[in-house]
Amino acid sequence: MSAEIIDGKALAQQVRRQVAGEVAAFTASTGIVPGLTVILVGDDPASRVYVGSKQKAGAEAGMKGDVLRLPATVSQEELLATIDRLNADPTVHGILVQMPLPRHIDERAVIERVAPLKDVDGFHPENFGLLAQGNPRFIPCTPLGIRELLLHAGVETRGAHAVVLGRSQLVGKPMALLLMQKGSGGDATVTICHTATRDPAMFARQADILVVAMGRPEQVAADWIKPGAVVIDVGIHRRADGTLCGDVMFEDVAKVASRITPVPGGVGPMTVAMLLRNTLMAARLATEARP
Ligand code: GUN
Repeated sequence: MSAEIIDGKALAQQVRRQVAGEVAAFTASTGIVPGLTVILVGDDPASRVYVGSKQKAGAEAGMKGDVLRLPATVSQEELLATIDRLNADPTVHGILVQMPLPRHIDERAVIERVAPLKDVDGFHPENFGLLAQGNPRFIPCTPLGIRELLLHAGVETRGAHAVVLGRSQLVGKPMALLLMQKGSGGDATVTICHTATRDPAMFARQADILVVAMGRPEQVAADWIKPGAVVIDVGIHRRADGTLCGDVMFEDVAKVASRITPVPGGVGPMTVAMLLRNTLMAARLATEARP
């Protein structure tokens, strides 16, 4: 292996410590404890783990972290009513509805119901639109964490060709928007590939920075990589033998890339750290908005 590992776990710990310090100062000066409520619908095992780690991270940073667990059979009306209640609750500054949702629920209606100033996921059209316009408020946590990883690793994005594999609302699309923003961590030339792209490997091979968010285990092989490229793997999958892997064939790709994120311990921990940052920002916005 020649690639240097980009250690998301270590950077996330650093960010979480920093946020904890800022939360302590914020609470000391305002008397307000930032509150994050995560809604988990159903009992998808992976979602349960993610939600548990979000709650724990919030508590460790000095926030009030609640999880509302709703059954998979919950009606759309009940879920929307729950969001309305949290929107009206002044002790809740951030609301996150864990995705994916059961099929009978309209994800879009749910995303649009969360008050934009409590939308710590950055999925609401108002926040997404602000990001698209280059004037972001809440930025989705995974792309935000990736930008932080790139900045911390000293990866030059300005003028680089960044290729994003995947066009999801959660990762691919906002990632592309962030990379093309003006300024630090942006100014890249961006290509997005998706399921209808004819030859994604051909595009990937032109990437200085390759962000892989395809949601398919070990799709990206060494011959997709330009020697010296920086590879960010957003995928996380459990193999039949119980071990975890990403969207990238790590061992092979690490022989060609200059830097690479591992799975686990790469992007995942950064997503949680950025959620805490967004929650503190939501608490600050709520405080500023008060008469
Ligand atoms: N499911 C996987 N990642 C995420 C995320 O960042 N936010 C939400 N709400 N659901 C997710």
